[in-house]
Formats: sequence, structure tokens, C-alpha cells
Amino acid sequence: MDIEFVRSRFIKHFDGTTGSVYTSPGRINLIGEHTDYNGGFVFPGAVDKGIMAEIKPNGTDKVKAYSIDLKDYVEFGLNEEDAPKTSWARYIFGVCREMIKRGVEVKGFNTAFAGDVPLGAGMSSSAALESTYAFALNDLFGENKIDKFELARVGQATEHNYCGVNCGIMDQFASIFGKEDSLIRLDCRSLEYQYFPFKPMDYRLVLVDSVVKHELASSAYNRRRQSCETVVEAVQKNHPEVKLLRDCNMEMLGEVKGTVSEEDYKRAEYVIEEIQRVLDVCDALEKGDYETVGQKMYETHYGMSKLYEVSCEELDFLNDVAFDCGVTGSRVMGGGFGGCTINLVKSELYETFVTTAKERFKAKFGRSPKIYDVVISNGARKLE
Ligand code: GLA
Repeated sequence: MDIEFVRSRFIKHFDGTTGSVYTSPGRINLIGEHTDYNGGFVFPGAVDKGIMAEIKPNGTDKVKAYSIDLKDYVEFGLNEEDAPKTSWARYIFGVCREMIKRGVEVKGFNTAFAGDVPLGAGMSSSAALESTYAFALNDLFGENKIDKFELARVGQATEHNYCGVNCGIMDQFASIFGKEDSLIRLDCRSLEYQYFPFKPMDYRLVLVDSVVKHELASSAYNRRRQSCETVVEAVQKNHPEVKLLRDCNMEMLGEVKGTVSEEDYKRAEYVIEEIQRVLDVCDALEKGDYETVGQKMYETHYGMSKLYEVSCEELDFLNDVAFDCGVTGSRVMGGGFGGCTINLVKSELYETFVTTAKERFKAKFGRSPKIYDVVISNGARKLE
């Protein structure tokens, strides 16, 4: 994305002066889906697509915000009762409020922002937006005294308290901590993390976007989380030390099979297996064993489709196409209910796969999927 573009719009929409420019990326996740809020492992990386915002304190107690992409302008105050109705503005408002709750004296500012993270593709455009503003407000009003983890929590709390999604920490974490050519394994229970260099010579990561958006994705997401908590409560009766599904194994789960619903059981089974798959993938990567990495990705897809039930017809179709083309690994990425598959493809197969996926998808669903090449990039930062 172009800094001059954002700057020119900022100048045009406000008083002709310039401010500071910040950016924060979207993310991919190689493996470890719906594990974050269960205290498990995730394995994301930031991408080269994100949100860019120009911001300047305006000496008032009002935020004046302009969405360049939507050509939409919203003004709001900084008190709890000032929450705007417009959904994109609620993210910025939520971040302001969460920063204030953490002791940052946020004042009014002018801001214009634009983005190139595809919306609804499961690449966390909302986390990119939250992280951009959390990072910026910390710099402009907070003397950077809030640490990076807490900035990620600001974004997560914004989702919980102002946007109705009880998400985990993965997206905001990746958006803040991202590093060029590295994936990050995060233990969501201890919050320990480790960078894994990821720049395979003979493989490429490519996203195939079904362009399906599920209307009720956030309530379905919250229900998945609820299922996991219900199972934990049941397991706790025999094992009081268990706080999260991360602390459970299949044996403990087996003990409550008759007492929880079949649906909740399947959800928990998926999560327990998925947490282990992240560790297996990291081991395989260290050995350069991409076949195993890919195999685990297919297993994740199966689990997300049949046990966690967050896939859809279009994504299952894209997964089958990948398999037919001999793609090493493929699965639905992110929260699910639409969005992309992430594919680990041998370089020599790339062209055939992309062409076949487009053709077969179009023949079946009457429209083309979108293709994004993944470039693993840096996290939140100030540009100017
Ligand atoms: C969404 C949430 C994340 C995570 C993923 C699924 O992206 O925001 O916290 O739970 O879904 O892995």
C-alpha cells in the first residue's frame, strides 16, 4: 500500500497538514486453528497486506475518522457513551477506550486510513485495523509505555467489548509481532513464543479465496467457544486442575463422552488433536519435512470440516481440488465459515494448481476465486 496515497487523502480531508503514519498487517496461520482461546498453540505469520493510517492530534476531545476505501466519515467522543454505530468506526473507538482503560490519556485526533487486506477472507483485516491504532495511540499519547503483548490484548478486548466476537489472541498477536520470513509459534497458555524462519526454496504458500462470507460467522464462532468451555466444565468434575482444553487429553475427554452432547464432544476432539498438530508441524519444519507439514494441514481441514464444522461447500471443494492437483498441504484458514484455503504448493505445481482451481471453481460456482501469494512480513510499525 502506498503511503503517498493515504497522505494525499489525509491532507484533502482535514486541514492540509500532515501527521504520523502507521501500519499493521493481516496474517496467515499455517496451522493451529481455534486453539488460541483454548490455551493451545498457533503458528501464524504477518503478511504484506494491511491497514495504513495517518493520524494527528487535533486539540479537541473528538476523533474525526475517515475511511478512504469506503469514503465514509465518522466523528465520535472518547467516553463510553460516545460509541459510534458505524461498524468500522467501532474498532477505532474500541481501541481508544481500551487504551484509556489502561491509563493512556487519549485525546482527540484526525485520522484517515486505507487497507488492502481482503475483507472476510480470514486474513484478519479487523486485527490489522485494531493493531494499527493500538500501536499509534501508544506512540502518540502513551509514550510507548504499553508493551507489545498488551497492545495485542487491546485489539482482542476491542473485539470482545465493542464488536461482539469472543476471539482469541492469535490475530492481534501476529499483527503486532510479525517478522519478515518468519512464522511465530505462540503458546496461548504461557504466552511464550518462538520465531521459526520460513522461506522454503521449493514451495510456495498461496491463498485461494472462496469469496464466501458467512452472515452469522461471529455468533457461530462464539458458539464454538462455548462448546469448548462446556466440555472443560465437564472434565473439571474429575480433573479440577483442568482450566482449558489445552490441559485435557483424549482419555479425559473419553471420560465425559456420555455427559456432554455429541456435538460438543466433536468440537473438543478437534481442538485436542489440533493443538498436537501444531507441535508436529513445527518438528517437521525443523527437519525440512514438508510432506508431513502438508499431511497435517489436510488433517486440519478434515477436522475443521467434519468435527468443528466451520468449513463450507466452497472451501471443501477447493480442498479437494488441491488434493487432486497433488498440492502438498491445504486447509481452510482462520475462523472459517468462508474465506480462504491456505495451500502449501511445490513451486513446479503452482501454475497448474492455480489455473485448475480457478477453472474448476468457476465451472461449479459460476465465479472465480481470488488468489493471493503469501509474503511473510513485519508487524505493526510507524512509517513516518
Ligand atoms: C479468528 C479469531 C482468532 C482465532 C481464529 C481461529 O481469526 O480472531 O482468535 O480463534 O479465528 O483460529
